[in-house]
Parts: sequence; C-alpha cells; structure tokens
Amino acid sequence: MNPATGKPPFWLLAELTYRCPLHCAFCSNPVDYARHGAELDTAAWKRVLGEARALGAVQLGFSGGEPLLRDDLEALVAHARSLGFYTNLITSGVGLTAARARALKDAGLDHVQLSFQDSTRELNDFISSTRTFDMKSRVAALIKEAGFPMVLNCVMHRFNLPHVGRIVDMAERMGADFLELANTQYYGWAWHNRAALMPTVDELRDAEAIVVAHRERLASVGHAMKILWVSPDYADAKPKPCMSGWGAVFLVVAPDGVALPCHSARMLPGLQFPNLRETSVRDAWFDSAAFNAYRGDAWMNDTCGSCDERHADHGGCRCQAFLLAGDAAATDPACRKSAHRGRVDALLDAAAAAAVERTREAPLRFVPGAATGGGLVFRGDAASLALSAPSNALQAATP
Ligand code: FES
Repeated sequence: MNPATGKPPFWLLAELTYRCPLHCAFCSNPVDYARHGAELDTAAWKRVLGEARALGAVQLGFSGGEPLLRDDLEALVAHARSLGFYTNLITSGVGLTAARARALKDAGLDHVQLSFQDSTRELNDFISSTRTFDMKSRVAALIKEAGFPMVLNCVMHRFNLPHVGRIVDMAERMGADFLELANTQYYGWAWHNRAALMPTVDELRDAEAIVVAHRERLASVGHAMKILWVSPDYADAKPKPCMSGWGAVFLVVAPDGVALPCHSARMLPGLQFPNLRETSVRDAWFDSAAFNAYRGDAWMNDTCGSCDERHADHGGCRCQAFLLAGDAAATDPACRKSAHRGRVDALLDAAAAAAVERTREAPLRFVPGAATGGGLVFRGDAASLALSAPSNALQAATP
C-alpha cells in the first residue's frame, strides 16, 4: 500500500452504462466510449458495491450514460441501501416515469440530480441534440412529487452563460433544493468542442456577478435553495483540487468494470487501470500502480512539490496536464506557475477573439439526428468511433 494514504474511497461513482439518449457536446464520458460497450451485470455490480462499502465508501452515485437505461437500477439501489450507502441518481431524466420514481423511492433512493442544458427549449434541445426540454420539466415535477431532494445541474458554456439568471429562476420555480452551475471542464467531448464552447473571461465574470446577486436575494427572503457556482480554473489561473486528489476520495467504476480515479483517466497513456471483474476493490484502490501513480505528493515536480498550495490543490488535474502539456505529471497548466500556462492563455485569447465574430452567427437550431451543428460535434456512437480511430486518437494537443 502506498504510505501516502491509508484512507478508503469516500465516494463511489458507479457508471452503470455509457448508453445515453442524449448527445451533449460536453459529455464527460470518454470520447472513445463506443469502444467500451461491455457492462457489468447485476451480480457483479452488487459485489463491487459490497466491496466498496466494506472498505468504507459512504456516498454512492448511480451515473452513466443514462443509468435509467439499466432495468436493474431499482435492484441495485435496494442493494446499496441495504449496505448503508447514501444513494444519488444522476440522470438526464429520460425514462423517469411516475411509476419508476415511486419504485426508486421504495427501493431506498435518497437523492436525485437532474441535468438541464439551459432554461430555454431551443438551447437545451440544441446542445443535447435531442428534444428533451419539456420532458425534463415534467420529470422535475415527478421528482418533487415523489419526495426526493433535488439537485438541478446545468453545465455552463458560452452559449448559456447569458441565460444564467433565467436558469436560477427556472430552478427556483421547479423547487430545486440545490442548483449546480458547473462551468465546462475541457476533457473528452468538451476538449474537442472547446473552440465553440469556451466563453470569454468577461462573460464568466458577468455571469458570476448575477449568481452572487441571486444568492443574496434568496438569502434575504430566507429561501432554502442553494446555488453552487463551479469556477472555471482556466480563467481563475488557479488549479482545482481535482477529485480532491488522485486516488484520495473518489473511485469511479466504468460500465465495463474498470476502476478509475476520475472519469477521464482512461485516456492517460502508460497507466493500466485494474478491472474489478478480476481485481477486488481493495486491491485496485490500495495496491494498483495506476491508483498510486499520482497519489500524495511524492510524484510532484519541483514547481508543485515546493508550492505552499500543494496540500490544498493536490497539484491540480492530471488529465488537464496531459491534454495541455502532453505530460500527466506536469504542473497543471491552469496554474499561473506552470511553464505551459501560455497554452491556456492562448485558448482564452482565442475565445475573446471569437466573441467579436459572434454577431454574424446563425441562430442555433436543433436538427434531429444531426452529428454536428454550431461548430460542435455531438456525442454519439458514430462520432465516438470516428474520433477515436487511430489517426484521430485523443491526445495532447496545443491550441
Ligand atoms: Fe482526471 Fe482531473 S479529470 S485528474
């Protein structure tokens, strides 16, 4: 065991499937997800949940893809409940009927996180490349009727940042207990679409000011809804404490059973991630070379290793370091101390230059079945296979 941590995972994210009816341009699933179609069966998931709980994991997220596409979801929730997990369903809402909401409640599900892509039908449907806005609105009501605490999650980017006030109003109207406004992280699909998604620093600051004003308004009237603004580290020039440190708190299990320290890590070269079909959760977490590769601070270079912030930011994000610097062990280029910070600044400069051109853009329009639109590639099986073909393999790239 690596002496850097004797602690078990606290959070288990069970990605039950990569299948998803939505085609979001910022999807956090790996770009090559279509090459990893295998899924653990019910018995294997129950074993994984049991092993993780025995190790000490407490919080459990059922995610995907769309976890409601698994017809054993209720059985897995009931099993998790019997083990003593606090359970959260992370869903697009597709497939959540009143009957299913009741069944999940009866199985012991504690919490639901519902994604919206925007407060307007036009943009929600465009960016997910599906006609889902009205369905999501109905599902939000079902979640409340079933008595679940509800988080609304909205990934923010340059298309919907100007709508942030209306997104807050929508969440309030729907009775959300919590609104998570998560600025886009540029991995996977969002990395491919970064030129189209990235806002200017001014657009981010304007939106944040609106969020702060709404927080103050809600507090002044004693409203219980909380708003989380997940800051974009590119613009902050400060690395985020990604996953609270590599192999420190989060265990992600991909649909095919591969254990990962974060959603994106399987793209990192040179790391062999253990598969829980063959390896126990304990061995994967404590003893595998991949989970120990960036655990603690022994792996850090001089810049990170001598930094006073290293125990707060854990050296930032390894996936971002790989994508921007070509080296997963490099200082996160979001950090102003990184020798590669210029690459992030170049992306922000490009976003500012692109903003000047925007007045000439055609309005965004959802086109059923479209693989691209508005300068974006939508997530889908054909795009996944094409983008992850050997000649297009996801790799570090300079802006
Ligand atoms: Fe992989 Fe940050 S997303 S370490």
